[in-house]
Amino acid sequence: MDIQKIRRDFPLLHNGAGQKTITYLDNACQSLRPSSVIEAINQYYAQSSACSGRSMHRLAAEVTRSCDQSRSAAAKFLNAGRKEEIVFTRNTTEGINLVANSLNLQKDDVVLLSDKEHNSNLIPWQVLSRKKGIAIRVIPSHPDNTFDLEAYEKCLDNKVRLVSLGSTSNLDGTSLPAAEVVKKAHQNGSLVLLDAAQAAPHYKIDVKALGVDFLALSGHKMLGPSGTGILYGKYALLDQLDPFLVGGDTVASSTYDSCEYLPPPEKFEAGLQDYAGIIGLGAAFQYLQNVGWNAIQKQELLLNECITSGIRNLPQLKIIGPADPKLRGGIVSFYIEGIDSHRIALMLDQMANIAVRSGQHCVHSWFNAHQIKGSVRASVYFYNTIEEATLFVTSLQKIRKVL
Ligand SMILES: Cc1ncc(COP(=O)(O)O)c(C=O)c1O
Repeated sequence: MDIQKIRRDFPLLHNGAGQKTITYLDNACQSLRPSSVIEAINQYYAQSSACSGRSMHRLAAEVTRSCDQSRSAAAKFLNAGRKEEIVFTRNTTEGINLVANSLNLQKDDVVLLSDKEHNSNLIPWQVLSRKKGIAIRVIPSHPDNTFDLEAYEKCLDNKVRLVSLGSTSNLDGTSLPAAEVVKKAHQNGSLVLLDAAQAAPHYKIDVKALGVDFLALSGHKMLGPSGTGILYGKYALLDQLDPFLVGGDTVASSTYDSCEYLPPPEKFEAGLQDYAGIIGLGAAFQYLQNVGWNAIQKQELLLNECITSGIRNLPQLKIIGPADPKLRGGIVSFYIEGIDSHRIALMLDQMANIAVRSGQHCVHSWFNAHQIKGSVRASVYFYNTIEEATLFVTSLQKIRKVL
């Protein structure tokens, strides 16, 4: 992989003279976007700014065709059986809420979560617990925060209707053995929803090989436009679900007191959609496929090794998750006893123009349970360089000396 060539595709990594401007290590929040994605968005607004699937005129036909191409690209990206299994959403959060509100869970049905789920895969279930009396069961992780398959199996019983897990954690970058998790859930008669917000940008996902029932992802974490996402669902399951948001574009017909829903995915995509976003997302899938998963993972490991080895011996510094960077994908999340994580993040920004995330990363439940105030999270992507990782290390070393 020619990293300098790749960096030239990302306007935010260069100013007009081709000089580096920012060290962006907040990729788990949102990735940067290549020019091809930005151009796809611009092209929609400049040349074909119309609705998809409604009007008969030529602009509308063009948008319908482009959105359909994006759906096909998403199906190919995830190896879905058919493009109708792809529902466009605004983000992972919306995908999970769709499943939570459409699955018709009943009182005492159990939803199985891990002890470090993002709020987006926790709060929707808490609301259902209050509204409908479903029960949440939490699988404890190993002491090093990796997924405990044995503990998981112990949690599975005939009350578990749904297993809903983050396949890669935004807290520490660890991934669970997704195929095994799905297999065990299905043996137990439970459905599986994978929150792939942090997995999809970094690993090849093959929904057919996994056999997973539902999978949610966010486009903005994987080069796509802000506020784009996908919910994958097996067609037979989507077909049975009642939609969560309803209105225009979800029905074939209506009378004053009834309606007939369209088949999936239309019945889930209520109202005018973010057509520019959907088209841009198609360009993002294309870009990632051109880079290739091996190159992405190789670069991320190199960067994670560099950061981990450079900071792990700083006084009072603790890395969240396993010590081995191989098990933490593109994430190094750490805290320094007695020092506010936001203060470190601000200093990195002010001293060296390094962007990281600090705080509790929407996993408040884990931080509260462990009585840790927060962490600094450096999250890399394939366009980051060893020079940037080294700058992060030396800047943190300097900060540690003065704080
Ligand atoms: C693991 C995980 N799940 C869900 C989400 C929510 O994603 P979004 O805000 O795009 O809906 C995030 C976002 O950081 C995440 O990291």
